[in-house]
Amino acid sequence: MNDRTCLAIVLAAGDSTRMKSSKSKVLHPIAGRPMIAHVMAAVAATGIADAALVVGRNADEVTKAASVEGLSVEAFLQTERLGTGHAVLSARDAIARGYDDILVTYGDVPLVTAAPFLAAREGLAAGNDVVVIGFETAKPTGYGRLIVEKGELLAIREEKDATDEERKITRCNSGLMAINGRKAIELLSRIGNQNAKGEYYLTDLVEIARSLGGRTSVVDAPEAELAGCNNRAELAMIERFWQERRRHELMVSGVTMIAPETVFLAYDTEIGQDALIEPNVVFGPGVTIDGGAVIHAFSHIEGAHVSAGASVGPFARLRPGADLAEGSKVGNFCEVKNADIGKGAKVNHLSYIGDASVGADANIGAGTITCNYDGVNKHHTDIGAGAFIGSNSALVAPVNIGANALVASGSVITENVPDEALALGRARQEVKPGRATVIRERNLAIKAAKKAAKDAGR
Ligand code: UD1
Ligand code: CA
Repeated sequence: MNDRTCLAIVLAAGDSTRMKSSKSKVLHPIAGRPMIAHVMAAVAATGIADAALVVGRNADEVTKAASVEGLSVEAFLQTERLGTGHAVLSARDAIARGYDDILVTYGDVPLVTAAPFLAAREGLAAGNDVVVIGFETAKPTGYGRLIVEKGELLAIREEKDATDEERKITRCNSGLMAINGRKAIELLSRIGNQNAKGEYYLTDLVEIARSLGGRTSVVDAPEAELAGCNNRAELAMIERFWQERRRHELMVSGVTMIAPETVFLAYDTEIGQDALIEPNVVFGPGVTIDGGAVIHAFSHIEGAHVSAGASVGPFARLRPGADLAEGSKVGNFCEVKNADIGKGAKVNHLSYIGDASVGADANIGAGTITCNYDGVNKHHTDIGAGAFIGSNSALVAPVNIGANALVASGSVITENVPDEALALGRARQEVKPGRATVIRERNLAIKAAKKAAKDAGR
């Protein structure tokens, strides 16, 4: 955006009454991060470096949740909720520093993208004093209506102050707008509260700017991007929109999803080209899936990295710190946490691998458990390249299994196993010929005696 300076003012001092929540609504998560962080990320993506955050309740928590990369955020407390115009002026000290552009946005409109912000700022660069971001809707009830004549924005009329004729207008105010930063304080100071709600309406800026000879305009954006969140039903709807949009982006970029509507992504989920995501997979924050990996159905993955050609699930759980190298496999009913799984290594069935590193081409048998926790501390298990861990083994950490070592099935391993060694950590098998017949006959005799006693007692 050329070399104009810009301050974003993000309004988040609302009461959130309809959320029926003990915390501010902007703290409620969409795709695994607070709503407010989505807004800030869109601001940062616009190339804006400074933001003023207008906060009410949970001020500290909201300010903390609003910190995103590349944006410096200064909080301003709005102690009384006197309207959107008053809220913007709460950031007067920031505005007074002198910016070319002021961009106003809401903390509860989390699907917004950089595009309408850029368009609105272009409107300022073209000489407008106020550029409103508007949208067409089939359900205008509750929104301010845009009074446009011959393509010119004359005013914004709030629903409560509108005539019946004006209420029929379907082009509405999103609430988001850009203001000439050099005139902002002067314009904002002229807002009064002589209206149906007795509030200082930010929307009055349009008429105020025009009365002073300034120009005003509208840029339109898709309604879905401007959806606000007032209650939990809208929270769920926004989550759905967000998920649909991100799944679509990923599929268009070369990711296959068989049933995309059953795949849930986090705000930062990255999936490479030619990866296949089967139905019913949930991604928590911090996941990178490289190209060509396969995530089978019903897997739950967070804080993990899956390399090219690796395969996960079905029914696998990857927890934070799981790092699967190329061509490795974590199969059904396995859990992996804070562990590196080497190239081509296999953890195929019913295992728990935590605080461990598994070398290349190692094979972890069904039911293997790394016993990483002693009730107080966590310990590490190191499994060398090419090692073979027999099924149903317990590896009691801290412990090292050497390269190409063999651990016999059913072992409880408490001591290090050198490279190339065989470890047996279980009772030696005894075989007693004919003894099975003796036991079976004794048991049959007990059963017969019980039946006879019961029959006699009838
Ligand atoms: C506002 C607009 C309306 C627009 C609608 C879009 C005004 C007067 N009206 O109406 O034209 O169609 O948004 O959703 O601007 N806030 C504060 N402090 C306040 C008041 C509000 O921080 O004193 C914040 C709220 O947290 C919210 C935003 O500003 O994020 C909008 O406030 P809200 O009361 O919901 O405005 P609406 O009446 O919906
Ligand atoms: Ca609202």
